[in-house]
Amino acid sequence: MFSLINIFKAFAGICNTPPLVNDEWKVVEGKLIVSQDGLKKVDKPGAAVYMAGNQLQRPVLLIKTKEGNFRAYASACTHMGRKLDYLLEENKLRCCSVNHSSFDLDGNKLTGPAKGNITEFRVEREGTDLIIKITQ
Ligand code: FES
Repeated sequence: MFSLINIFKAFAGICNTPPLVNDEWKVVEGKLIVSQDGLKKVDKPGAAVYMAGNQLQRPVLLIKTKEGNFRAYASACTHMGRKLDYLLEENKLRCCSVNHSSFDLDGNKLTGPAKGNITEFRVEREGTDLIIKITQ
């Protein structure tokens, strides 16, 4: 059910996912490195954060799935580029625009006017950091 706030957010393209602050992540040689402090913000299944700016060409969404796995995506809908939210109960990603294109956790388009799938990035643990390989 839509509230007025949700309708406003959809028109303005404001997602529900919070950003990580810049000292919780960095980009080094094609790798986005999320620090232990950053990972504390994504410690529960269903949690999600995004990173944008610095050396990133587009926002990156990091989620913790209901199974407890980290997964990362280009947070840009293939319709008009709006950012994505993770919907735990439906176990899918959804664009924050009015049209709400949705994608499964493998990045495949499910619904909406999106023109194609979204990009998923490989994720690896390295000590206490999480490495997101933002170059394919
Ligand atoms: S930006 Fe339009 S459906 Fe996602």
